[in-house]
Amino acid sequence: MLHRSFACSPLGRLPCAALFETALWSTAPSTAAGLRSLSCGPAGCPESSSLPSPPPPPPPPLVEPWRDAAEPIERAATPPSSWYTSPAVLQLEDRTVFRHSWLAVARSSQLAAPGAYAAGSLLGLQWLACRDERGQLRAFHNVCRHHAAILAPPGTGSTDCFRCGYHGWTYGLDGRLQRATRLAGIQGFRAAEHGLRALQAEEWGGFVWVRQGPAGSAGRDQQPRHAQAEGAQQQVGQRQQEEEEEQQQQHSGRSGVAAWLGPRGSAAALAAGMADPLVHVASREYELRCNWKVFVDNYLDGGYHVSVAHPELAAGLDLPSYRSTIYERLSIQSCQPAGAQQEGQAGQVPAVPAAGERPAGGEQRRLGGGRPPAYIFVYPNLMINRYGPWLDVNTVIPLAADRCKVLFDYYLDASLASDQPFIAHSLAASDRVQQEDTGLCESVQRGLASPSYDVGRYAPGVEGPMFHFHQLLDVDLMAGAAAGAAPA
Ligand code: FES
Ligand SMILES: [Fe+2]
Repeated sequence: MLHRSFACSPLGRLPCAALFETALWSTAPSTAAGLRSLSCGPAGCPESSSLPSPPPPPPPPLVEPWRDAAEPIERAATPPSSWYTSPAVLQLEDRTVFRHSWLAVARSSQLAAPGAYAAGSLLGLQWLACRDERGQLRAFHNVCRHHAAILAPPGTGSTDCFRCGYHGWTYGLDGRLQRATRLAGIQGFRAAEHGLRALQAEEWGGFVWVRQGPAGSAGRDQQPRHAQAEGAQQQVGQRQQEEEEEQQQQHSGRSGVAAWLGPRGSAAALAAGMADPLVHVASREYELRCNWKVFVDNYLDGGYHVSVAHPELAAGLDLPSYRSTIYERLSIQSCQPAGAQQEGQAGQVPAVPAAGERPAGGEQRRLGGGRPPAYIFVYPNLMINRYGPWLDVNTVIPLAADRCKVLFDYYLDASLASDQPFIAHSLAASDRVQQEDTGLCESVQRGLASPSYDVGRYAPGVEGPMFHFHQLLDVDLMAGAAAGAAPA
């Protein structure tokens, strides 16, 4: 705007348009004051009325702050709807939430044998995990070092090397570049420097985990803003202690994943049976027209929606028994089955619940198994449902600000793995509930995009796990925003 002020030239009376051009291309600094001093009065250029231009507005924040991050749940409003609708927030999540978290990408059983591999993607991350010839777990960015083609197709398989389908560069299971043809004449090239870029990889709790960012990167040194509130010093001290314990465990060679999850949460998740060696019986994939966090929120409402939205399912639950326990980076929900009179009824086929929900009907006898059902949410995008002979895993993959994909993997006790009618009926029941949840989540997304909606409120007695999820997000998003979300 400054250059468009109607100032006159010191060299005479160039037309204003000429000055505009001169100033625009000048490399000399030109200040508002300088141009003001050269302005003509009314007798000169009739248009001379330049005023100091206001300073440019600061760039908009990368993410709209959560106004009530420091409030207790009883007083807090939810994060702003822009967290669920803005592509810029999703980009920030890619660079903070997902780049610095341990992500479960496969069950350990899928990568048990040398040569087994799994590949997939999550936003900007293209990942490849495998078991090398010596039995060592490896993980890499699934990107060819030549011209960036995706190396292994998504899915699982077995191989003794990874050969790029574009120009044939070939990498070993240890990631080293083994073969690259037609490079005669190339200079300054060392094959040893062109192996696949490594990811951190670890096996823990029955899963294979990968992590992009190095330990100690963004987010870990940040305190949740609620911890800055009066009376929250205990939480600050606890978080610091947790981080110190994580560092100590990593330095001592113990699980980095367990340390990152936190000692209490990781122990509770193991006790709930997340690592039990069950048999994979089915996979399903759902695409939802909602932000990935809408699906997570739906999982974490403490059973609030079940009686309203899943009446059939609710009939099989003792909803007053619903309990949630919040740990460092995970939470566990549980709900006992409905009345004992249903137990032991013959001829009823168990149904499999969807995320966070207990099965309805007469399945208590077969699904109870003496172990309380556990619906484990692992920040940021993993849900592990362990009940009776079942373990099902839901992984939410963001696709766009208003779209996500949910991968369902079903595991079953080996003694039931060939009971096809039981499995088919159970999967159909799970699908019904999932369809109901899809409708809810997509409805919420449309509402979040409405100009009428900004923030909502929590039901304090049940939505604690969701509040905890938002607090963890807030830590990562604010840390990323403060750092300018520079790529690591
Ligand atoms: S992009 Fe992989 S060999 Fe060329
Ligand atoms: Fe639901």
